[in-house]
Amino acid sequence: MAKYEELMESIITQINDGVWEIGEKLPSLRKQTQISGLSLMTVLNAYQALESQGVIVSHSRSGYVVAPKIIQPAYKRTNPDFEAIEKVDINDIIFDVLQNSRRPNLINFGSVYPDASLYPRAQINRSLANAARTMPASAMIDNFPPGNEDLRHIISQRYAAQGMSVSPDEIVITSGALEGLNLCLQAVTTPGDWVIVESPSFYGSLQSLQKLGLRALSIHTHPQTGIDLKALEVALKSHNVKACWLMTNHQNPMGFTLPDENKQQLSRLLSKHKVYLIEDDVYHELYAGSKKPLPTKAFDHRDMTLHCSSFSKSLVAGFRIGWVAAGAKAEQIQKLQLMSTMAASAPMQLALTNYLTTRSYETHLRLLRKTLAQRKFALWKVLNEHMPKYVKINYSEGGYFIWVELPEHIDARYLYSASLEKNISIAPGAMFSLTKQFQNCFRLNSSFECNEKHIKAIKTLADLIVELNKNAPK
Ligand SMILES: Cc1ncc(COP(=O)(O)O)c(C=O)c1O
Repeated sequence: MAKYEELMESIITQINDGVWEIGEKLPSLRKQTQISGLSLMTVLNAYQALESQGVIVSHSRSGYVVAPKIIQPAYKRTNPDFEAIEKVDINDIIFDVLQNSRRPNLINFGSVYPDASLYPRAQINRSLANAARTMPASAMIDNFPPGNEDLRHIISQRYAAQGMSVSPDEIVITSGALEGLNLCLQAVTTPGDWVIVESPSFYGSLQSLQKLGLRALSIHTHPQTGIDLKALEVALKSHNVKACWLMTNHQNPMGFTLPDENKQQLSRLLSKHKVYLIEDDVYHELYAGSKKPLPTKAFDHRDMTLHCSSFSKSLVAGFRIGWVAAGAKAEQIQKLQLMSTMAASAPMQLALTNYLTTRSYETHLRLLRKTLAQRKFALWKVLNEHMPKYVKINYSEGGYFIWVELPEHIDARYLYSASLEKNISIAPGAMFSLTKQFQNCFRLNSSFECNEKHIKAIKTLADLIVELNKNAPK
């Protein structure tokens, strides 16, 4: 066993023995070299390996602290592994939650976007002003589908930094990831086709299925281990599936990231059954730890993965700039785009290109990731302190969502309505499913600073849950 592995093992034993508790700071790198007699490099290797295994997390000011233990929720499998839904009909609660998120002074735990103060607004605005000043009269035509050439180059180089080869010619710039995802689904299906989705899943996928008249195979998905691959295989064998729309990194709403082996297996299964994967990877930049997780596309050797992402969660939401790495489907996606929105906004494409070529996106991302990791951890701690013991709080590394499970007899829609009266929003589980399976769950956004106001809001939510638990029929 290498020296750094021995150190890892000894730290894990200490954590298990309660020497270091969750949230507690480990000895600094320098201190650890004195304690262990190992070199700084060996200690650093051990800490980084522990971090990548999710045992510890690095916090900018406090060094390395012990990560929250993954809590395996008592997740009852009363529901089937997958459900076939002939008519996708999603409820009005999505619209209601989105509309209410605009209320002034709302404590917006229900929001899907990160705290806007984390975006580099002044720099972005300067890039926008620059684009407006220098934009040629032909800008609209120049930036027609597939979109700005420089921007596609930059995106292609970001794939290369992960060891992936995605030519700029395979990339189509879209109005946010959502347009890309919708165009992909349209490109690979016809009305009435079966499409695999996660359960629970991002509501945008369900809306898209409904709009296109598609049928859903809703696959059971676990808050920590992700989509049930055995159930997926059964669904693939029993139905003539055309596409699969899912997330493998920082999934919305549950937050999990699939390990590489699962991504590989998923890709193998789908290509065996010749099913297109529409991979929604909008949170890919928001990882914790030192290594960006690969998309499932990295394991696809048959060009059947359409990888969609955007700058909305990591840089600027309002520009509505995203992309699809569509491989051989790139031309078809462009044709569909020309028939719907025509093109992504030219000034926004130019402004974003200006930012990415003149500023350090990486410096911004490093700070963003660190802040998000700290805030998620802080909210997790507050939740553990104040929520009743019967509430299950799922912690996952990266992103900014925390998935919370209430006892099965409590409908989180009541919690949503009651908390809204106190000016607090949550995202109830009913938004993310075509079935009643997740009505006792809700999603919290942890990207906001966990100040006194937020702690008070969590205490209010806890009080409301206690009240609901008392009064809900069991
Ligand atoms: C999982 C997921 N996919 C796609 C989107 C849409 O991204 P964009 O704002 O870039 O269109 C969102 C935004 O909420 C999301 O959460």
